[in-house]
Formats: sequence, C-alpha cells, structure tokens
Amino acid sequence: MNIEFHTEPLGQVPGSALAVFGFEGSPSSSGTVERLPSEVRGLLEELQSTRELTGKSYECTLLHHPVGLAAQKLLVVGAGKKDKFSGAQLRRVAGCAVRYLRARGIHDVAWVLSSEEAQAASVQAVVEGTVLADYDADRYRTERNGERRIDHLVLATGGTSPSEAALAALERARIMAEAQNYTRDLVNEPSNRMTPTQLAEGAQDMATRVGLDCQVLGPQEIRDLKMGAFLGVAQGSDEPARLIVVRYLPPDAPEAPVIGLVGKGITFDTGGISIKPSENMHEMKTDMAGGATMLGVMQALAQLKPRVRVMAVIPATENMPSGKASKPGDVVTSMSGKTIEILNTDAEGRLVLADALVYAKQLGCTVLIDAATLTGAITIALGNITTGVFGWNQEWVNRVLASAAAAGEKMWQMPVDEDYRELYKSTIADLANTGGRYGGAITAAMFVGEFAGDTPWVHLDIAGTRWSNEEKPYLAKGPTGAAVRTLVHLLTNLAS
Ligand code: BES
Ligand code: MN
Ligand code: ZN
Repeated sequence: MNIEFHTEPLGQVPGSALAVFGFEGSPSSSGTVERLPSEVRGLLEELQSTRELTGKSYECTLLHHPVGLAAQKLLVVGAGKKDKFSGAQLRRVAGCAVRYLRARGIHDVAWVLSSEEAQAASVQAVVEGTVLADYDADRYRTERNGERRIDHLVLATGGTSPSEAALAALERARIMAEAQNYTRDLVNEPSNRMTPTQLAEGAQDMATRVGLDCQVLGPQEIRDLKMGAFLGVAQGSDEPARLIVVRYLPPDAPEAPVIGLVGKGITFDTGGISIKPSENMHEMKTDMAGGATMLGVMQALAQLKPRVRVMAVIPATENMPSGKASKPGDVVTSMSGKTIEILNTDAEGRLVLADALVYAKQLGCTVLIDAATLTGAITIALGNITTGVFGWNQEWVNRVLASAAAAGEKMWQMPVDEDYRELYKSTIADLANTGGRYGGAITAAMFVGEFAGDTPWVHLDIAGTRWSNEEKPYLAKGPTGAAVRTLVHLLTNLAS
C-alpha cells in the first residue's frame, strides 16, 4: 500500500473517496466533518435532520459526486460519543472506512486528518487502522478479496505540512501494522502447511528479508541441550521439532537488558494422549500464535532499529498422540534439572516454554517475556477481548501494561501468588504439569514462571485474543496478531 500526505485544501484532494468522521448526535458539525467546505456540510446537515446520518459508531454514509469536492465520493464514518473518543477508536473508525470502501470496489482513500496538535498520534492510529483493516485471511480462497485491497492511502492535512513527528509516525505505524499482519498470516496457516520445519523456514525467510540472524536447532541439538520437557512433547510427532532463535543485537545498544521473547510454537495441539474432543480441534492450528507474535515483533524491530538487545526463542513442535507419545504419569527432566510429572499431555505449552525460558537465560537474556496460547481458562476469564498478563516483577508487568494502553491493545493483570504453588505439586517429581481446573490460567502461568527463576519475567496468555470469531466493521475475522504492537511499543520505548 502506498501511503502519503497531501497538503492541498480538502476540496481539491483528488481520488475516489474522501473520508471523514463525525460524532454521535452532531455528525454534520463535529469531528473531521467540520473541516469540509460548507456546501457539502449543508448536505450532511440535511441527512442528519432526517436521521440518515447519526454518527453512531461505525455507521457509514457514502455520498456520490459531493458538491464542492474534487473527490468522486465522500464517506462519513460515525465515531460514536465524543467523550469516549480515543486513539483506539480512531484506529477502528479509519479501519471501518477501509473495509466499507473496499467492499464497493474502491482502491484509494483520502483520509482527512484533524488539525489538532496530536497529529503524529492520529497519523499512527489512521495508518495502523488502515493497514490492519485491509487484511483478510483469504490466502486459500480461489476468489480472493485480494483484488479488492486498498492500494493508495492519502493523509489529507487540508493545508498544513506534516511535522517530522507525523512523517515518522507514518513509517512506524506501517511497520507495526505490517508486522502484525505478518503474524496473522503465520497464525492463519493450517498445520499441514505450517509444520515446525515450515515455521522455522518462515522465520529464516523473514530474518533474511529484514537482515536478522536466525538459527534453527533440530532434534539432536535439542537432545544435546537436555531439553527433556520440550522433547517429551515432541516425541509423539513424526514431524521433527525445531528450536528457533532470532537475534537482534545492535552493537550500539546498551549491553543490558537483553530481552528474551519466548513464544509457544505448537503447530498443532491435539492434546496428545490426553486427546482433545474433536469439536473445535481444528482451532489448535493456532497454537503457535505466541511464536508468530514474537516473529512479528522481531520483523518490526529489524525495521525500526531501536537501540535495545532482543532475542526470540521459539520451541516449535506438534503435540500428537502416537505409540511414541508421552503418557499421563510420565516423568521428564527439564533442561533446568527440575523433574516434571506429566499429569495431562494436553498441558504441553508450559513444558516447551519451561525449556525455552531456561535456554533464553543461557543465551544471556536478562529479562524474559513469553507469549503463549496457554490455557482455555484465560478465555473463560477474559474472553476474546483481553490478554492476560502475569508476573512477579511488578515493574516489568507495569511496563507491559503501559505499552498495551499506548498501543491500543487490551491487557489485564492476573494474579500470581505463592498459595497457588500447592496446586501443581507432584507426588513423585518436583512439579506436576497441571494444577487442576480452578485458577487454571494462574497455575499454568506460575508453572512457566518457575523456570524463569529470579529473572524478571512477564507472561502473556493470548489463548483468547489470538483469534476473532466475528467479522468486525473494521477488522476481518480470524487471526488477530494480538500483542505484537504492545511488545514493539515496549521495546522501542525502552531504547529511548
Ligand atoms: N493450547 C491449549 C490452550 C488453548 C485453549 C488455546 C483454547 C487456545 C484456545 C493448551 O495447550 C491446553 O490444552 N491447555 C489445557 C490445559 C489443561 C490440560 C490443564 C486447557 O486449557 O484446557
Ligand atoms: Mn494443549
Ligand atoms: Zn496448546
């Protein structure tokens, strides 16, 4: 998508469609509608008086041949209540315009910016909203929406030249949203096209494309590292496991911290011998979403070039039942030396993360952040809307939460507490890999945290937020790319 600023008066901006927004109650005289030439505003007043134009969230009103405008069409998007308006809402409103226009065969949009001082923030929201809305998980349709994509976005300032900050925001937003879309592409892949080997090849391709270092370890190397927990999951599958390490270590960055991004990379989770019911099992092709998130973050870092050291570590395997698979009651020895009784082979995410966290520390990471589709329990607690955030180190948890707020992603801190440790004690080994149904997301998180040890660690349970089951006016259904923007925001702001 080509994105550029135009500074001519709004009436003279050419193209297929000029897009503005207005608030609920007074859509013809609020928001960016206010900036339009008066002739066309008169028309909108009329529509408002007949209640065809209300300004309710995501309402789209399209005028053809609008008077006083060079553009062929004018789209007015409802932005909802003015006192609830935010950057996150602007992202959605812009996304709404994109999906509405695309569906009508329009490939170029001129988005009218407000004249306010927060221009860089608006540019960021509009560009992100546009790029994210222009995505469909339709790779496997023979009739793709692809032909309908937006290929040109104009940011119309109506006179003022964009500030340096606004120009930078455009590039930053494009990079962040494209990284998120890349993650969505990975998550969307079915497991027959996204085996651990293919995920590793994908990581390598991405690394080559953006100039990062990528190293892939295979089963023998994983065995040599004594990753008994990871191997205990991998042994049931005919597909060889992969441990993917992507490094972004700019020499001019401070030596510490070194952030380790650990992403769960289960390319398909059948549950193993503790097999899942067949209903909805297909959704488990998304169980590598944590790994995909981290690859998206690494892509964005390579392009944004912040002065901070980051490594992604992704343990990738299938979780399959077979004659070779782990069985309930088996005991494995993790890389840390801690022994684990596998009470439920479907609690495999924490096993692969356990070894990956220890490996990340061995590689020199001084702060650990993991993202994982870890538990069904988090979806019961927070639904598909909010990512669960866990960790003992409140300072780092706060940093993640603040970044989520700034990036417009919903995250909520869940507790960790010594009293829950009882629940995942084993009768015969150091730990058991399940803590029962009660507090399932908490015990799963805390199990993972046991392997971070004293290293600051934050865990993101994205089991609910990785996928959206409904199409939104501003977003396709399917993979969301949750947590990518938050982590990119966190890491780029650490550097400054
Ligand atoms: N990958 C699943 C969690 C999951 C559930 C992700 C729904 C996305 C949507 C995970 O490996 C799992 O199976 N967890 C079990 C743990 C239980 C056996 C202790 C769960 O949540 O049921
Ligand atoms: Mn599982
Ligand atoms: Zn899983």
